[in-house]
Amino acid sequence: MITLALSKGRIFDDTQPLLQRMGVTVLDDPDTSRKLILATNRPDVRVVLVRATDVPTYVQYGGADLGVVGLDTLVEHRAEWSQGTAGGAAGNLLQPLDLKLARCRVSVAVRSDFDYAAAARRGARLKVATKYVAIAREFFAAKGMHVDLIKLYGSMELAPLTGLADAIVDLVSTGNTLKANGLVEVERIMDISARLVVNPAALKLKRETLRPLMDDFARAVQAQG
Ligand code: PRP
Repeated sequence: MITLALSKGRIFDDTQPLLQRMGVTVLDDPDTSRKLILATNRPDVRVVLVRATDVPTYVQYGGADLGVVGLDTLVEHRAEWSQGTAGGAAGNLLQPLDLKLARCRVSVAVRSDFDYAAAARRGARLKVATKYVAIAREFFAAKGMHVDLIKLYGSMELAPLTGLADAIVDLVSTGNTLKANGLVEVERIMDISARLVVNPAALKLKRETLRPLMDDFARAVQAQG
């Protein structure tokens, strides 16, 4: 049995056309079913639904053989891991494929009336709210900017509006959320897309079924253009 970890929402939805192209159909609808293990039309492939931030953990520990995760989540996971805050010991995570799905970017945004360029020029110490602490820390350090990072778990856009922070580091896709909250994007940190991650031990033990499935993913990505 091959277990594929997906997170509900955009990753699950965007992965479905790819899976269809591979001849894999998920038989339950996560929006209406409360099930966390979903059968597919292939008796040897099942899907487990986990939180986006838990996908790398599941795959790393072998709770799933492979998974689909945003590069943003993967970069943060690796940083926590290397700092030893992710806990425990486990094998590495292979990242064989850019699925070119769920594309967006991680950016810095501020209130439209905040002069970010001037603050950066005069070396002001900025308060930055984000759930991407590692990405933000590395980005501002590379620019030589001094920042105080405030970890949040959601609704980042609220932080500059309430005075909690001067800036946020968050995902931007259409830019509609920033616009609706009177914020503007001032720096683009990195482009994001969904990645396939694979447990290396599973690749050895289940090579005969897992390798062809990974090849199917690669072909499906090529076909989507
Ligand atoms: C992300 C991000 C923004 C929004 C940006 O949230 O945190 O709020 O999408 O998209 P837009 O530029 O198209 O408006 P998401 O919906 O992924 O949920 P989250 O708040 O749980 O991260």
